[in-house]
Amino acid sequence: MFSKADNSAAWAVGGALALFFLGGLITTVVPPLVDKSWGRPAPGLKPYTEIQLKGRAIYVREGCWYCHTQQTRTLVSDTKRSGWRGVDSPISTPDEFVYDKPHMFGTKRTGPDLSRVGGKYDTQWHRTHFRNPRDLVPGSVMPPFPWIVNDPVEFPALVAYIQTLGRAKDWRPDHDYEK
Ligand code: HEC
Repeated sequence: MFSKADNSAAWAVGGALALFFLGGLITTVVPPLVDKSWGRPAPGLKPYTEIQLKGRAIYVREGCWYCHTQQTRTLVSDTKRSGWRGVDSPISTPDEFVYDKPHMFGTKRTGPDLSRVGGKYDTQWHRTHFRNPRDLVPGSVMPPFPWIVNDPVEFPALVAYIQTLGRAKDWRPDHDYEK
């Protein structure tokens, strides 16, 4: 078969496509069939409310995901960064994302990962931060979002959504700003 692929473009292309689709099936279709927990919501996960969904739409519209990921990987640097007062955060698992359509995992970490940021800050912190991040974090490259802060509907919606992030796992019970 390998010599055929060497000598014939059709075999080489056909073989490459077959392997590509096999790889796709094994990494996307097969895992949820083998491990059924992937499709089940985590015990603490609730479907988004209307206001949280509105906030999520703002998150998408404003491109927050250009700079922020939502996945705590299996790296010590991630669990420490998302940790809280010496307690490492749990890593992300598929059952935390079953209501996320489309998911906001993101790829680029210009800013910190947000998968555990729910409950980390209160509304007033977010108000000051969205108005001008540099007021709280000198030198921050996060842009100000005054049009969100000044909108009586959009600001509470975005904060409501942000506060849901990472809530499926109750790992920071005593120090939560907003339940
Ligand atoms: C140009 C990149 C960029 C964009 C776009 C951006 N951010 Fe950020 N964000 C950052 C950086 C860098 C930080 C870290 C410094 C700081 O806190 O300001 C940050 C910090 C944060 C934090 C605090 C995280 C923590 O653990 O302390 C939150 C919450 C946040 N951003 C939410 C958002 C939301 C919501 C949006 C969209 C409305 C957004 N960001 C858009 C770059 C960005």
